[in-house]
Amino acid sequence: MILLDDIHKAFGSKSVLDGFTLEVREGETMVIIGYSGTGKSVAIKHIVGLLEPDKGRVFVDGLEVATLGRRELYALRSRIGYVFQFSALFDSMTVAENVAMGLKKMGTLTAAEIDVRVHEALELVDLPDSGHILPIELSGGMRKRVGIARAIALRPKYLLYDEPTTGLDPVTSAVIDEMMVRMRDKLGVTSIVITHDMRSAYTVGTRIAMLYEGRVRWVGTVDEIKSTEDPVVRQFIEGRASPVPAGPLG
Ligand SMILES: Nc1ncnc2c1ncn2[C@@H]1O[C@H](COP(=O)(O)OP(=O)(O)OP(=O)(O)O)[C@@H](O)[C@H]1O
Ligand SMILES: [Mg+2]
Repeated sequence: MILLDDIHKAFGSKSVLDGFTLEVREGETMVIIGYSGTGKSVAIKHIVGLLEPDKGRVFVDGLEVATLGRRELYALRSRIGYVFQFSALFDSMTVAENVAMGLKKMGTLTAAEIDVRVHEALELVDLPDSGHILPIELSGGMRKRVGIARAIALRPKYLLYDEPTTGLDPVTSAVIDEMMVRMRDKLGVTSIVITHDMRSAYTVGTRIAMLYEGRVRWVGTVDEIKSTEDPVVRQFIEGRASPVPAGPLG
């Protein structure tokens, strides 16, 4: 289980998270939605210790992230696959080398074992023959898939996806959505998916949380969000330019 408990985070005088609380249960896919710049990426960086809260606590499997030593933090990170918002591939390395990176860092696998894992991961994202290619030769959608392969090669318990479908055409997005559902249903991975894409949110989400003004304003199932009367949530999910007036639906 992942628990972010009353997280406060500011950069200089700018407060970003202001009492952010979210619990992610085993086996579920928690989707986080919210306007650009509200702190979605900042929130999930706390889970892997890339950021530390000013106040509040983050727990992964009962361990408080900020209290972990360097070794414990590495051990924790090897259980969490992180798909970065901007792919973050190394352009001077081949696709296979990019996917192998985290596995080498673990320091526990032989070269042959790493090869097997890399092939397996590239197959899972439908790029079985792209290992020798340089990232520069790939389309945006393929780069995203390599980012996902790098995360799943760790065979993680948790996967954090930061906008995995942003900027992709609808069909490529649907392929990636399907892949995320497969990870949950076939491998039992617990995930957090940040997205602006409501179609994707409805496809992959077990529950959806909306970040608004530094905290989780609303959290519930896909069915519940579709019938919520919260005007801020409805404006966002319906993509309206002005707030939805409060009142009965319809
Ligand atoms: N390391 C940092 N130093 C200073 N400010 C930061 C840092 N990281 C994020 N911020 C600021 O925190 C705010 C929230 O950023 P964040 O990237 O989490 O937004 P987001 O919700 O993920 O937006 P988007 O949907 O555009 O990705 C922004 O104003 C950003 O400029
Ligand atoms: Mg972001």
